[in-house]
Amino acid sequence: MTDLVVRRLLVDMEQPIARHWCAGDAFRTALFNALSMSFPFGEQFFIDSVRNGFKELPPEKQERFRAEVQGFVGQEATHRRLHALYNAHLEKQGLVNSWEARARERLQLLQGQDVRHWLGITAANEHFTAIFADFMLHNADLLGDQDERLKTLWLWHSAEESEHKCTAFDLYQALGGSHEWRVRWMRRVTMFFLTDALRQTVSNLRRDGTLWKWSTWRSGASYLFGKRGLVTLTYKPWKEYFRRDFHPMQQDSSASVRWLETHGDKFVPVGQSVVPA
Ligand SMILES: [Fe+2]
Ligand SMILES: [Fe+2]
Repeated sequence: MTDLVVRRLLVDMEQPIARHWCAGDAFRTALFNALSMSFPFGEQFFIDSVRNGFKELPPEKQERFRAEVQGFVGQEATHRRLHALYNAHLEKQGLVNSWEARARERLQLLQGQDVRHWLGITAANEHFTAIFADFMLHNADLLGDQDERLKTLWLWHSAEESEHKCTAFDLYQALGGSHEWRVRWMRRVTMFFLTDALRQTVSNLRRDGTLWKWSTWRSGASYLFGKRGLVTLTYKPWKEYFRRDFHPMQQDSSASVRWLETHGDKFVPVGQSVVPA
């Protein structure tokens, strides 16, 4: 069981966001902005999955999960609130969020389905965010120094994603979710996640007027496939999810612990939201 603290981040999200806030880099800015666009809707889905999964547990198992689920819900609710403020600035810049509309449409297909499917999808997404988070925490310099506030936002979010990476997975297991469905959902989530992230990044670049610049894609290739590229470094931890004996705890979380320990001045712990019995 993980002890999850809900933290209020001490950043001012009312101030506008620069067009290329991420180290002056068009590609990285567009990619991070795309990810931010997916959070308010996606994280609500994760909250609903975990809440509904918790309710399906027999009472004797609920006690083991109660505090952790409260922490998970509180953390994700805080993330989505701040990313909604972030996204409002992007909208003012003329960027259009099409990722959310596609995800909303897919959600219709899941209505009425076994909660284990919801949790299988959530656990797969949480694995994605956890390995991406660990990458971010190890490569914080790639966020640049132009906007300390956004750098803090991304690293805090990363630290908490790494912290709560087991919750959906453990609930899925506790409800008897199978290995076969777990990996099946990971394959599908990977396909959707990569396609959506690419489409939204391209759309952001097109509206930014930097889609056809050589420098954009040179930077993109280096950020994704370079020696310390995102894809280069996360491929192995992504693949480990397919092992029958995989558990998120097997992957290192020390970068998250370290960041939270050394950035206590950036947040204050707050009370947790309540999960009904
Ligand atoms: Fe989150
Ligand atoms: Fe999460």
